[in-house]
Parts: sequence; C-alpha cells; structure tokens
Amino acid sequence: MSIRLAIVGAGYWGPNLVRTALATPAFRLDWLCDLDIERARAVVGPYTTVRPTDSYDAILSDPDVDAVAIATPAATHFDLVRSALEAGKHVLVEKPLTPSAAEGDKLASLALQSGLVLMCDHTYCYTPAVQRIRELICSREIGEVQFIDSVRINLGLVQPDVDVLWDLAPHDLSILDFVLPKEVTPVGVAAHVGDPIGAGRACLAYLSLWLSNGALAHVHVNWLSPTKIRTAVFGGSRRTIVWDDTNPAARLSVHDRGVDTIHAESLPQDQRRQALVSYRVGDTLIPALPEREALMSVMAEFSAAIRERRAPLTDAYAGLRVLRVLEAASRSVDSGGVRVSLSEVNA
Ligand SMILES: NC(=O)c1ccc[n+]([C@@H]2O[C@H](COP(=O)([O-])OP(=O)(O)OC[C@H]3O[C@@H](n4cnc5c(N)ncnc54)[C@H](O)[C@@H]3O)[C@@H](O)[C@H]2O)c1
Repeated sequence: MSIRLAIVGAGYWGPNLVRTALATPAFRLDWLCDLDIERARAVVGPYTTVRPTDSYDAILSDPDVDAVAIATPAATHFDLVRSALEAGKHVLVEKPLTPSAAEGDKLASLALQSGLVLMCDHTYCYTPAVQRIRELICSREIGEVQFIDSVRINLGLVQPDVDVLWDLAPHDLSILDFVLPKEVTPVGVAAHVGDPIGAGRACLAYLSLWLSNGALAHVHVNWLSPTKIRTAVFGGSRRTIVWDDTNPAARLSVHDRGVDTIHAESLPQDQRRQALVSYRVGDTLIPALPEREALMSVMAEFSAAIRERRAPLTDAYAGLRVLRVLEAASRSVDSGGVRVSLSEVNA
C-alpha cells in the first residue's frame, strides 16, 4: 500500500519535493497545496492526478492522507506542523524546523507523544559525500576531529524574512550534527555578521563553534560572493577530509597529510628544544561516491521511517539541536560577538 502524501508550498523548493515524491514508489502524491493556487496548478501541470488546492484544511481533513511534506517559509512551520500532527499525519518539514528552539521543542514532544514521524529535511545529510564523511569520522578513520572549516558562499537571494545565518547556516550545522560522533557536541558559539549593502539583515556571517572534545569549528556563510564556494575541511589527528561540493570529479579527498606532535619526554635531552611538531606527507585518496540525488534519499528515509515506525535519521531532535546553535549565534550577534555557552540556551 502506498503512503498517501500531500505537499504544501509550491515556491522555489516545493517543486523539488513534488518531483522526487512522484519518483518514489512508496508514495502516492494526492495533493499540492499553496496559498497561491495558480502556482500549485502550474507545478502539477494539466495531466496529473495530483489535486492542487489553496486549502490546508482540505488536506488535513482528508482521511486518506497519511503524511504531509512542508516547504513553506520558516515562520509558518510551527502552525502547519502542529496542526498536521494533531490531525494524525506524519510530517516532513523543511529546514529550519521552526524559527525558535522553544517551538521546535514543542513539535518534537508532540510527535513523540503521538507516535508520528516528524522529519526535518536536512538535505545535505543525505548526499553520498556527507554520508561518507560521517563514516570516515565515526569509524575514527581520520582519528580525533581537531578542526572543521566550512564555507558556503555565493550570490544568494537576500531573503525577506531571515538573515543569512538562519538561511544558510542550518545546512552546515545540520552536517556537523550528522557527521560528528554523538559525544562531540557544540558547547559554545560566537558569531560575527555584516550587512554591507544595507539590506536590513545580516548578509554574511562568521560562526565559531567550540566543540566538547576541544576542537574548533568555523562556518562562513555569505549571500554576496560572486563566486560559489562550498567546501568543508574536517581535520583529524590521523587524516584530513576535504569536501568540495562544486567539484563532481572529486567531491571528497582524504589526505594522509598533517602535523604530528612529538612529546618532549620521548626526545633525547639535547633535542628537546627542537621543534615539537613534525609534518607528515602521505597519500591522498579520492573515494568513489555513488551519484544519487539527496532528495530522493530524503524521500526514501521518510517513507522507511513511516513504515518502520521509527525515528528518521534527521528527526525533530536533530532539527532542534541546529536551532539551539542558531539561537546561541543570534544571541552572540546581539551581544557584539561574545562567546555564548550552549548550556545557557539549552537551560
Ligand atoms: N533543503 C534545502 O536545501 C532547501 C532549499 C531551499 C529552501 N529550503 C526551505 O524550504 C522552505 C521554503 O523555501 P522557498 O525558498 O521554497 O520559499 P518560497 O517563498 O519560494 O515558497 C514558499 C511557498 O509557500 C507558500 N505558502 C506560504 N505560506 C503558506 C501556507 N500557510 N499554506 C500554503 N502555502 C503557503 C507561498 O505561497 C510560496 O509559494 C524554507 O523553509 C526554506 O528554508 C530548503
């Protein structure tokens, strides 16, 4: 039996959900809802069994609908997700889960109590590259994570409702949340932002994250860069992973190059004053990655979680952890860029 699905939001991102849901055998797409019904009609086209509507209530009151996928602006997520869960529907919601951690917390609890799947579309976590990074980190192939440097800059749409931190950093933060071992979590955040064009909101941001194992992570997001750069470096004590998402021939490379430290006590007395670091120059490996569209994997995971009645890989709590870091970052910005402890935000 197919899972009967309705999609809400036919703007920029919604049509991607429509296309991938239609290509996922586990789903049967029944509805596409948008406040602008002409937009919904244009996306489904004339030769389709998918019903366009501007009435969310029509979807929620349709007993055949099992699940709802929401691609509307973040400010609408809380109300739309809550009413879908209250109507007994499973939910896939776009990032960010909600505009505040308090709201995200309520939704996560509601989903848990009602035994429904609430999945956050952290799309990048479903890319073959990020899944391989996770394997390499969690299997300790690269040793202990020592630093992370993530850059996501291009000429992006200046969003009307959110700043660049809340628009782009959820991608980087959800990736960090996904690839790091469970015990390595952010403990402090400092954020510095700029609005050089007078847009009224931050258009570029630099985010420093202190991790519980002593590592430091940095995230740079920017809507104003004429060149598109999407790279991340995951430095480990044994190896370093370089991810360049704009280079399909070698999205990932794993470098057996780095800096080793020599413990002074292991050196003869007369050499102890010499450098305590040594440089390791080894091979670089380019892992073979399958070409698989991340959103197809998102749909597969959503349907599998519904069928197996289990939490999806990127559940509401993953969404909530990202929100807590974003809130701490916004608090840091409001306080002139000071370091904000995550325990202050979680309290
Ligand atoms: N996962 C990703 O990589 C990715 C990429 C882009 C956007 N997004 C997310 O997708 C969401 C939507 O972004 P977008 O760029 O498509 O926005 P958009 O403004 O282009 O489209 C939103 C659509 O939702 C409709 N809408 C708004 N409120 C509604 C309501 N209450 N009921 C029904 N329809 C409603 C609007 O009419 C509009 O057509 C955001 O949360 C954004 O962060 C995710």
